[in-house]
Amino acid sequence: MPTFATRACAVLSPMLSAREGDLLPPTQPRRMRFNNCSAEIAIPVPSPIPYLPHLNSSQVLSMGLAPLDAHRWIEPDATLPHWYAHKQDVRARLGSRVCRATPESLPAQREASTLLAAHLLRDHPATYCRAGTALHCGDYAIDFDEQHPEPLWAISLAVADDLLLLQPRGDEYVLTAASLCSPSHWRLEEKFEQPMSTIHGPIPGFTGALQPRVERFLQHLHSARPVERFNWGLQRGAALCARHAEADEGALHYRCERQTLSRLPGTGAILFTIRVYLCPLDSLSAVPGALQTLLQAIDACPPALAVYKGFERLADDLEALRGTYG
Ligand code: HEM
Repeated sequence: MPTFATRACAVLSPMLSAREGDLLPPTQPRRMRFNNCSAEIAIPVPSPIPYLPHLNSSQVLSMGLAPLDAHRWIEPDATLPHWYAHKQDVRARLGSRVCRATPESLPAQREASTLLAAHLLRDHPATYCRAGTALHCGDYAIDFDEQHPEPLWAISLAVADDLLLLQPRGDEYVLTAASLCSPSHWRLEEKFEQPMSTIHGPIPGFTGALQPRVERFLQHLHSARPVERFNWGLQRGAALCARHAEADEGALHYRCERQTLSRLPGTGAILFTIRVYLCPLDSLSAVPGALQTLLQAIDACPPALAVYKGFERLADDLEALRGTYG
């Protein structure tokens, strides 16, 4: 099991270099409560949030795929130690509900781990360096032994992103491995080893509108042409691990997920990364038009999709927001 280790390389700096990216330094750490969790871990919140995908497209159901610059596969992050602590904490309490893999996925996990580590070392040298079988990530290190029994989990501790692997089974792609400590309302145990059609089954309108395109896209994804896409949503409270949305309480938050999809050339598996950004909804008032556009997107959402997205549950809060920004 990877553990915190001695400090090495460059100290993880909140002020990232131009080469390392342009994320803003975090604001004051805030206390965050995780559903299913007794512990609280302070996660710094970038302010303002770096992505507001609803400004680019008002459509909730869209492919939204864009070419990904391979140098930005994983984006630089000033808050890595917090994610490390968050992941260890969630895994200790939820076990296989947030981390599991089929035995057959091991070669693909190894390939994903090797490629991600190579990317981190090459493209974020101020944060990552390697010493023997340890991958140092600023202030801490993870075990990067090639024979690690859980390579996807191990490398996931070096990044903020959740990591999932898809592999072909019959005509469809199936979820075969995951380190998923910050899911939105969905549960890994219900999706594991399921095909994309089943995974996206609960989303109203998905099967007809998007499923065939998603399947075609996955079949044709080329290792030289990775892509990124974004999802956005609202939730009460700031839980990164939001498996039980109905139990949420607290202020309204905007949740953005930056997702990437990459074909691993050796095994042919697809690596799906998900980086969650959460910020208090009212902080969007600092961005001209952001709340107005959000309300318009919510109003334009078909009824069934609005229920799926939880907008109905949040109707009172949204009404109050409308009074100010509508
Ligand atoms: C081209 C690729 C993909 C597209 C266009 C896509 C699109 C979407 C969209 C539009 C949603 C609804 C999100 C929302 O607005 O709340 C969604 C949900 C979801 N997606 Fe994907 N997705 C893709 C790939 C994947 C992959 C590779 C996985 C791997 C497991 C995945 C797992 C999920 C899950 C678990 C949900 C939530 C389903 C639920 O509510 O139970 N997606 N996806």
